[in-house]
Amino acid sequence: MRFPKDFLWGAATAAYQIEGSPLADGAGMSIWHRFSHTPGTILNGDTGDVACDHYRRWREDIEWMRRLGLNAYRFSVAWARVLPEGRGRVNTKGLDFYQRLVDVLLQNGITPMVTLYHWDLPAALQDEGGWANRECASWFAEYAELMFRALGDRVKLWATLNEPWVVMALGYLMGQHAPGMRDIGAASRAGHHLLLGHALAVQALRALDIPGAQIGIVTNLGPQQPASENPQDQAVALLWHQFINQYFLDPIFVGEYPQTVLSFVGEFAPPVRSGDMEVIQTPIDFIGVNYYTRNVLAYDADSPFGSRTVPQQALHTEMGWEVYPQGLYEILKWLHGTYGAVPLYITENGAAFADTLNENGEVDDPLREEYIRAHLEQAYRALEEGVPLKGYFYWSLMDNFEWAFGYSRRFGLLYVDFETQRRIPKRSAHWYAQFIAQQRAI
Ligand code: FCB
Repeated sequence: MRFPKDFLWGAATAAYQIEGSPLADGAGMSIWHRFSHTPGTILNGDTGDVACDHYRRWREDIEWMRRLGLNAYRFSVAWARVLPEGRGRVNTKGLDFYQRLVDVLLQNGITPMVTLYHWDLPAALQDEGGWANRECASWFAEYAELMFRALGDRVKLWATLNEPWVVMALGYLMGQHAPGMRDIGAASRAGHHLLLGHALAVQALRALDIPGAQIGIVTNLGPQQPASENPQDQAVALLWHQFINQYFLDPIFVGEYPQTVLSFVGEFAPPVRSGDMEVIQTPIDFIGVNYYTRNVLAYDADSPFGSRTVPQQALHTEMGWEVYPQGLYEILKWLHGTYGAVPLYITENGAAFADTLNENGEVDDPLREEYIRAHLEQAYRALEEGVPLKGYFYWSLMDNFEWAFGYSRRFGLLYVDFETQRRIPKRSAHWYAQFIAQQRAI
């Protein structure tokens, strides 16, 4: 494999999952802080109060990135650190944290990719309805503009939202994520307002006319395949494909929501006002692909969505997700074929395994090493066939707070001993570092 010279080799994180100190230095409360402090929401009652203590150990973490030879790092900004009430009053100390982080990344030759929204809405905005309130789109654009002005001279790669589908489905429909709602109407509204907010943020960046700035959206994608030739299985697979893979990208690239999903949701269709779709179609510079697994689906009248996933004979991660590297190739090719020449980044790809520290103080994780290798091979296949792939970010730089699963799922290249906050590079980290070094030497 010979990836292009300017390919970005990175790892990804998100603010609430790693930073800790959620209320330090004048930060406002986020919905994840509130949610994780609500009994019964998170496995083992875990919270992000300490997490990886990255808010205080960020220099050491950049040092690890440098040692691994990463030339890129994707992280997110905690909205409530910089705008404690979500809008209005700016908290300079919160901004300073990200200023310093970006400066030291650049000093180490590491290109930052900044995600503006990785799920931690300021709680004050949730109290006004959160994303279910149409105003949230403008609040988000105001916050985005603040960040463009603060960091735009040094940050050239911006992602508006991380996985809006997950926000809508897990946050507003199924209640497993903050804000913990189970309301299909609110979910549908939230989805539409996320798209509007995304587009208004893109427009805010364009208006500032910052040289070299690129902006895109990060989506969770994966093949949704029928379990058989049976037309009912085919139909549910198509519905899921349109729902997961097209629901947020079709509006941006085609100007409409996928028809099959609209028919399925009936009266709960998104509240599209005249002119919305034109705004949402504001051109973007890249699509971020978060790829973890596929789903094989069968019709099942007794299941809530008329379908069920059919378990496959294959290796599964600790999340219960099938390891299916070929799906990365399939989804990259599908994106390229469907939405044209837009550049793509793999903004997340990774696996949780039950890592342990052995008696030599090492973490031997051959399964993760193989996971990364196999996915890179599939990414390379797509690249060779003309897909404009620009970078790969492993999820995650280090073990962290895995949302509703707390600290029980380890995705990191760096093992984190949460008692001592010591970071220990896993075997896969050494492998990835070596792979990157080889690529950069070619
Ligand atoms: C993605 C999220 C990321 C992480 C991985 C495992 O859905 O974007 O924060 O939790 O899954």
